[in-house]
Amino acid sequence: MLTNLLEGKKGIIFGALNDRSIAWKVAEMAHAQGASITLSNTAVACRMGEVMELSERLNAPLIPADATSVEDLQNVFQKSQEILGGKVDFVLHSIGMSLNVRKKRPYNDLNYDFLNKTLDISSISFHKMLQVAYQMDAIAEWGSVVALTYAAAQRTMFEYNDMADAKALLESIARSFGYIYGRERHVRVNTVSQSPTMTTAGSGVKGFDGLMDFSDRMSPLGNATAEDCANFVVTMFSDLTRKITMQNIFHDGGFSSMGMSQRAMLQYNKSFETVNVE
Ligand SMILES: NC(=O)c1ccc[n+]([C@@H]2O[C@H](COP(=O)([O-])OP(=O)(O)OC[C@H]3O[C@@H](n4cnc5c(N)ncnc54)[C@H](O)[C@@H]3O)[C@@H](O)[C@H]2O)c1
Repeated sequence: MLTNLLEGKKGIIFGALNDRSIAWKVAEMAHAQGASITLSNTAVACRMGEVMELSERLNAPLIPADATSVEDLQNVFQKSQEILGGKVDFVLHSIGMSLNVRKKRPYNDLNYDFLNKTLDISSISFHKMLQVAYQMDAIAEWGSVVALTYAAAQRTMFEYNDMADAKALLESIARSFGYIYGRERHVRVNTVSQSPTMTTAGSGVKGFDGLMDFSDRMSPLGNATAEDCANFVVTMFSDLTRKITMQNIFHDGGFSSMGMSQRAMLQYNKSFETVNVE
């Protein structure tokens, strides 16, 4: 096991809500690998005992911000630099929310105010984060920015709804900003496309248990857990991956390259033994 991969590095982790959150696991792993970090989430989330407990345990000050507010983001980058003592080396965007999903509006009957919110929170916030950091020159040379995404950006997934469009936009922002940030400051920008994971955001998707089981059967290595994701994201923050930028990297046990697997086919065939589905 490699240790101290992030020794001396400073970072900001957005999106740790509870101990199931992917950002929570990344924060713990980054800390264990020697990084100093700050945490950020909405004011409501920050008032929850769980996030405060993480903040105290990791000695990682908590800075509230609505990620759709440029002013709030400026404050996070400003305060983080003051607290950590200089420019940051890495940033995690682990933020997603869709009111259409929450309120069970199907994709062919979207509420457009909700759609605007989905895109603002789940995708445009990433652009805002990058633009604020770039304009404040808050990320050090060879810094690394990662946002979490899902394979529904490339392939239609039943019930993923407008989050699919949000993820496609998020991945595009990583490429567009990655070019500028790489060219001008050697800062890398990537998205990590994670397996379905049982978190608060994940379990909001209808039929999530079935999706997780299907995905696990389809993936030769099985679903990647939140802990697996944290291990990978930490390498993306480290100096071992300095020349990776503008990529969407699938961290999904092989799911994205599969069409049909033996384990999924066996389960599918079982359905014919009990019911005759057209
Ligand atoms: N869980 C999965 O199956 C899965 C799979 C692939 C990608 N992802 C992505 O991983 C990321 C993290 O989600 P998670 O699964 O850990 O769930 P989570 O619910 O633990 O995290 C989502 C976070 O977004 C935050 N958030 C929502 N609105 C915000 C706003 N306006 N400003 C700031 N923060 C806001 C929430 O407070 C929460 O901390 C999301 O981008 C999600 O789409 C999740």
